[in-house]
Amino acid sequence: MNGSNPPRIGPFAIQLRAALDASAGAGPVHERLATTIREMIDRGELLPGTRLPPERALAHDLGIGRNTVVRAYGALRRDRFVDRHQGRGTAVRGDPSVATSSRLGDLATSSQRSVVFRTLSDAPSGVIDLLSASPPPNERITAMMRSALQKVPLEELAMHHGYYPLGYPELRKAIAIYLQRTGLRTSEDEILVTAGAQQAITLLSNWIVDGGGKVAVENPTYAGAIDAVRAANGRVVALPQLVSEPALDELEESIAVGGVGAVYVTPTFQNPTGVLMPEFARRRLAMLARSTRTVVIEDHGLAAMRITTEPIPRPIAAFAAADAPVVFVGSLSKSVWGGLRIGWIRAPRSLVIHLARLRASADLAGSFPAQAMAVDLVDRLDEVYEIRHRELVARLELIGAWLRELLPSWHWIPPQGGLSIWARLPYGSSTELAASASRRGVAIVAGSVLSPEGDYDDHVRLPIGVDAAQTREGLTRLARAWRDYERSFRPHGAVVV
Ligand SMILES: Cc1ncc(COP(=O)(O)O)c(C=O)c1O
Repeated sequence: MNGSNPPRIGPFAIQLRAALDASAGAGPVHERLATTIREMIDRGELLPGTRLPPERALAHDLGIGRNTVVRAYGALRRDRFVDRHQGRGTAVRGDPSVATSSRLGDLATSSQRSVVFRTLSDAPSGVIDLLSASPPPNERITAMMRSALQKVPLEELAMHHGYYPLGYPELRKAIAIYLQRTGLRTSEDEILVTAGAQQAITLLSNWIVDGGGKVAVENPTYAGAIDAVRAANGRVVALPQLVSEPALDELEESIAVGGVGAVYVTPTFQNPTGVLMPEFARRRLAMLARSTRTVVIEDHGLAAMRITTEPIPRPIAAFAAADAPVVFVGSLSKSVWGGLRIGWIRAPRSLVIHLARLRASADLAGSFPAQAMAVDLVDRLDEVYEIRHRELVARLELIGAWLRELLPSWHWIPPQGGLSIWARLPYGSSTELAASASRRGVAIVAGSVLSPEGDYDDHVRLPIGVDAAQTREGLTRLARAWRDYERSFRPHGAVVV
């Protein structure tokens, strides 16, 4: 990096600066600063014992007067949120031994990773939300949902008490038939209906981790999987994308070294890179599952998001021996609608029963009307996939052209499928860019939140399938933010390598 660059500022100051910008006009700066820090303490993002930056340093990073920070810290001390110790500065009040639990810290940072929560907290009105990549249903899919709803035999269903911890039998049957069509021999008692793929991953994490196991994931990966493993008190092991022989060798080595109980993958299509896992890698994972007894979780939540026209290999489970521990996860969220909260697990019968017990302890069972609607929608999934494919191909063309026009220095390759474009900045930090973007009225996902190790801070995830007009305006604002950021990053036009 060139020596004339301004000093980098920490994520804490970046977050504070974004919050201050968002609350502009709502009272004096020292009060807003104190409120923001207090809220971070309440949410567990600043743990007991955490030291706050010295007043002068924070004032510099935020571009405000030192006295403003002194007043904010004073108010926090008065309200007993922080303590000041001679020689040690200002720290969050409370027992620091609690803060040493990495679990608490992980849960706190998960609020940064979860785009659903960030959409609620970071995207106030007027801010364009490029955080969430989930496409809403288009007109044709909405019409399909309406028709499915009309077919729900409510009077008949209401004669039953409505609790099905394993899932509505008609839906389990429909899912099994659908999976058969995709080349995966399945019977209905191998299906557990869940509240979306996320609940499926959470249940599986709890089962696998059970008191501190390790789950290997590709780096970067779907943020919800990182959170689910860590929330279950498990350790996440980061691997390269499992699409080459050397990467699969690396997985085999980490299994041999010990402790890796499972590997989580999104073969069709990788989240966030959009890569389609080739057949040889699927076959090798299937063999590895059997020979090492390592559970392979294949999450097909994005399978409907096909852009490529090349043939899609069968799921990993289709290449696995009957006794290999390969678990398939599916969902209607991206194909049809996330609001339905319908997903499923395909696993051996005994595991389905075990997971259903775990599930029942959380919510007893899923919504019955949504499951009844889903029967008809699962029957029509081939049609839905075709609609999504055509929509995504057109959308990628449009957004790709805008990106090339507005942010020509960013590097990306067209994804084979999935929800997003995984773009690399020519230099700089996407965490810092996200703060600058928030001032320009657009919220983006910095690459590092999709990495268990906090890598890929030079990447940004941009959604493909959300509203086109909003995306265009969002990218226009992002291009302005990038220009602001470039100016601060290269103050004298120096080339940064
Ligand atoms: C790869 C992947 N798996 C699972 C999910 C969660 O989906 P659901 O809404 O079905 O819980 C998502 C959501 O974006 C995802 O991208």
